[in-house]
Amino acid sequence: MRIDILTVLPQLLTSPFETSILKRAQQKGIATIVVHDIRDYSTDKHKRVDDYQFGGGAGMVLQIEPIYRCIQELQSQRKYDEIIYVTPDGAQFNQKTANSLSLLQNIIIICGHYKGIDHRIREHMVTKELSIGDYVITGGELAAAVIADSVVRLLPDAMSDISSALNDSFQDNLLAPPVYTRPEVFNEWKVPEILLSGNTKEIEKWQLDQSLERTRLLRPDLLED
Ligand code: ADE
Repeated sequence: MRIDILTVLPQLLTSPFETSILKRAQQKGIATIVVHDIRDYSTDKHKRVDDYQFGGGAGMVLQIEPIYRCIQELQSQRKYDEIIYVTPDGAQFNQKTANSLSLLQNIIIICGHYKGIDHRIREHMVTKELSIGDYVITGGELAAAVIADSVVRLLPDAMSDISSALNDSFQDNLLAPPVYTRPEVFNEWKVPEILLSGNTKEIEKWQLDQSLERTRLLRPDLLED
């Protein structure tokens, strides 16, 4: 899978992709993540990419031209399945969306900044708008990193044990069961006896019960879906 991310702050997107699963996925050739500086596509002699809003109002807007030129160049090289704009007024990103994006070949993610991007990009080029939650962050970069991370870890062979991804919270609309590791006793706090029993069937049953119980308690809305 290939993910192209368009941003005015490429430096915000270096470390998330240079560590852990995302780094390994790229090294193994499972994922290619390319960050593009929108400024490189500006024809302005000062490399300016933002301007005042028509109609007035506080805050700058990212101009249409550099974003358009960057997308055009990418589309001349390959076909894209989705052009995503990350924005607080987009559809709520969730595990289901991560699962479906992980089946795609090539996607573009556009990061907004300041007041956002010229709306004509959203009307004529963007195919999906996603929000990572009902709060506003400074720009779309961290949202793009969240989405890229949750998608790439689902790609075949990105994780050494794919069953780990299938057991994640929100797969099956359930929260994950609690997990424990050595030592068995710490400060007289004991690991649940069942996990030490070696009885796989009983352990799986306990884990499912725990998942259901935690979901009922913490996120009953998930059970209504
Ligand atoms: N840009 C600013 N806030 C955002 C959010 N909550 N989700 C996606 N992109 C954003």
